[in-house]
Amino acid sequence: MCGIIATIGSDDAVGELLTGLENLEYRGYDSAGIAVQNGTGIKVRKKAGKISELKDTIAADVPNGEVGIGHTRWSTHGPPTDANAHPHTSETERVAVVHNGIIENYERLREQLAAEGYEFHSETDTEVIPHLVEHHLDHGMTVEGAFRATVDELEGSYAVAVLAHGTDTVYAARQDSPLVVGVDEDTGQYYLASDVPAFLDFTDRVMYIEDGDFVRVTPGEIELTDRDGEAVTRDVETVEWNAEETGKGQYDHYMLKEIDEQPDSLANTLSGRITDDGDVSLEEFPPGTFEDVDEVQFVACGTSYHAALYGVQALENAGVRARATIASEYQTPTVDENTLAVAVTQSGETADTLSALRAAEAAGAETVAVTNVVGSSAAREADHALYIRAGPEIGVAATKTFSSQVATLTMLSHRLADDLEQGTPREDAAEFFSELEKLPEYVEQTLKTSNAKAVSERYLDKGSYFFIGRDNEYPVALEGALKFKEITYEHAEGFASGELKHGPLALVTPNAAVFALFTGRRGEGTRKNAEEAHTRGANVIGVATHGTDVGGFADATLRVPETHPDIAGLLANVQLQLVSYHTANMLEREIDKPRNLAKSVTVE
Ligand code: F6R
Repeated sequence: MCGIIATIGSDDAVGELLTGLENLEYRGYDSAGIAVQNGTGIKVRKKAGKISELKDTIAADVPNGEVGIGHTRWSTHGPPTDANAHPHTSETERVAVVHNGIIENYERLREQLAAEGYEFHSETDTEVIPHLVEHHLDHGMTVEGAFRATVDELEGSYAVAVLAHGTDTVYAARQDSPLVVGVDEDTGQYYLASDVPAFLDFTDRVMYIEDGDFVRVTPGEIELTDRDGEAVTRDVETVEWNAEETGKGQYDHYMLKEIDEQPDSLANTLSGRITDDGDVSLEEFPPGTFEDVDEVQFVACGTSYHAALYGVQALENAGVRARATIASEYQTPTVDENTLAVAVTQSGETADTLSALRAAEAAGAETVAVTNVVGSSAAREADHALYIRAGPEIGVAATKTFSSQVATLTMLSHRLADDLEQGTPREDAAEFFSELEKLPEYVEQTLKTSNAKAVSERYLDKGSYFFIGRDNEYPVALEGALKFKEITYEHAEGFASGELKHGPLALVTPNAAVFALFTGRRGEGTRKNAEEAHTRGANVIGVATHGTDVGGFADATLRVPETHPDIAGLLANVQLQLVSYHTANMLEREIDKPRNLAKSVTVE
């Protein structure tokens, strides 16, 4: 998730771009850059690091201009370096481009362009865009024609804005990545951005651009067309919120915003990684990468450990020996060169996880970091990095990164099962991966129809909250309890449902609420355990797909769409995230920064 901004018709393009970038910093903050157009050509300034570092660079040499584009980056291809920062330019610097999204066919386009002599200076997928535009200009097209032809060749997701030398026009297009236009009707100024907060300091009049729309904007004039060049119109609306609320938009908390972002973040995680014939294609790991592996050892902490447990289930179901260890307990690993140690860490900076990763490496294991942060310590130190592409997560409680970790580990598990002799890749692969691809849709439906707020209100006065499930619902039960205790400060525990009778049942009284997960393959077993809790007077809240009968003993039900049982746990988790959020909100807790906790724990 990156942020783009463009300003058209301002007498201080640089100042406005920097304000816009600061307002978009919540979308990504590992590097930033701008390009402005003036009589002498396109001037680009870009820098790895925070916007403040870009500002310092610009202060030394301020380019002027009336039209400009800018970008704040959250890396997906290539680490955060000056060269990988946007805008990217063509060879002659006639064209500058900012882009948010993922170009899935960039490798093929890059090869074609390189073969024609176009030189690449970054590791990004985006850099193919300016070279493609230039390629079409070289073949005599107009700037608009070259831009349209380029967009026609892109596969994947994009909100892209292009500046070309010699015009005061910005061209933009969108497909599966957000793009909005800000309109100042009094001055004839326009803005393009990934999100409204970017330009709220300047105007509150907004036009929402739709997939397939092309935008051509010059000072005082805007034209919207579809792919065929036919004119389209989009209404101009006034937004109600103000500039102070920037990153959170209309949300009270980042956590709820990030829960709601899951359809998009999951779509990014999956993008280009599932083939039409129901297989997994990870550009990081071509078939055969893991032929020599005979055991997988996950190391992780907290929420990431729960995602790792989900990964263990997926691997064991595919006949691959796997285990997960809490990173701080991974002291004397038993590994050899056939062990694959997988560090699961959204930040890539958790000290306990890094130390476990180093221990595995020192003992001779091959290592992988599954992380959200390109260029993080884990990504740099491991032999391989696999990115979950969830976009920045600001709320301390991990939400969208958990879903993206699980989806990524599910794909990695399939890759491993395919490569390994002992592996038996799932027979229902085509059906399973087609359901996995629909996960963003199912999450959207879950979010739209959730009754989690009403359920939270009903059980607000309970003394204890338990979460139970089997198989891959077990990590979801653990995660449900962790999230709940973390932000509500109420007593919560997660158990494998079969364990209830081996001790925890002593805690179950009428003062307890038990969330029982029925979304997996072994709901029957959980039903018995939930009934035992009900008999002791507890309120049982069933979490189940629409078609599942949870039994008459359940006091309330949280429903999720019908899907493959190996995925449905993620939907159940979305409901539990909402229960934690609404409970904490009603208890007036500090949701985004719970007491005593930090987003990235860099001490052991
Ligand atoms: C809980 C949470 C933590 C982290 C843990 C590991 O909501 O966020 O439990 O999951 O501190 O962090 P990463 O994934 O950055 O290694």
